[in-house]
Amino acid sequence: MTPTDVARFESWFAIAESAEVGRGELATLPLFSEDLVLWRSTAGVISALAPRCQHFGAHLGGGAVCGETLQCAFHGWRYAVDGSVRNDESDPGCVRTFSYPCVESAGLVWVFNGTRPTFPVPTPFGVNDSDFFSFSTTLGLIPQPCYVQVANALDLDHLVHVHATPPFRPKMEGLRFNEIDIEFGYQLAADGTALSAHIVGPNTYCTRIMPGRPGEPIVIGLVTNTPVERAMSKVHVSYWVRRDIPGAEPAARSIFMSALSDARTTLAEDQPIFSRLRLRPLNPGPLDENVVTFLRWVDRYPTNAESIPFG
Ligand code: FES
Ligand SMILES: [Fe+2]
Repeated sequence: MTPTDVARFESWFAIAESAEVGRGELATLPLFSEDLVLWRSTAGVISALAPRCQHFGAHLGGGAVCGETLQCAFHGWRYAVDGSVRNDESDPGCVRTFSYPCVESAGLVWVFNGTRPTFPVPTPFGVNDSDFFSFSTTLGLIPQPCYVQVANALDLDHLVHVHATPPFRPKMEGLRFNEIDIEFGYQLAADGTALSAHIVGPNTYCTRIMPGRPGEPIVIGLVTNTPVERAMSKVHVSYWVRRDIPGAEPAARSIFMSALSDARTTLAEDQPIFSRLRLRPLNPGPLDENVVTFLRWVDRYPTNAESIPFG
């Protein structure tokens, strides 16, 4: 393993679909091989807490939602959504458990691996709910660290071998490696169809397809990898389709279903490689420059060296 394989990247991670945790419900979910407890208060506020009760160390996943608090099953300590203890009598003062920064976006629950988010949750190309229909779902598991599937998006050479596309070597335009994100674009087809891409953190890849033919809808997609274990990632996808397309929601949903089917096929084609890959630039050629630059960028990406406190 290299340091990158075990790095705890400071990024937003989609840990569940919003619908998985209703009001008054909780779930224990893995992130970097550790548990977090995701729960939703009776009023509907979502919260993700480190799992250890700060009284005697019971696992809060065995507790229950009690109004606006999560109650430990062992002696009944109650935690507010911000992780602070809210007991009537036995509250020793400023005790708290770690509360992950947590937001919901496009049907997914995202947590930031760090005490304070250093950038906003990925909302590709400024999409907003008033102009777009959005759809999200879980795609599956990849037995790889969370950046490997994103590297695949920059690896245009594998498309012809793994995904049986026609030979394809478009000219990358505007490729820019920033501190926490990467931008690029290229022409997808001779009719002028173009793809813009935005990688956010080492784990999330957003695309916008601008059709070359007038009248065809613009489709925005997001694929995000959540490191449930150090070398096992859960993949979620989101798609946005403009609300003003002919046929409205049913038409948008059918575009989503078709994009989802393509994404499933692509993932299934990649799996035989991913199942035994150790992604290293051992002898890269001139065409591999973007992937090599990406892997170097991942190695420099900010991490939390320590485990989240109070875990
Ligand atoms: S261990 Fe949680 S209340 Fe005692
Ligand atoms: Fe692939």
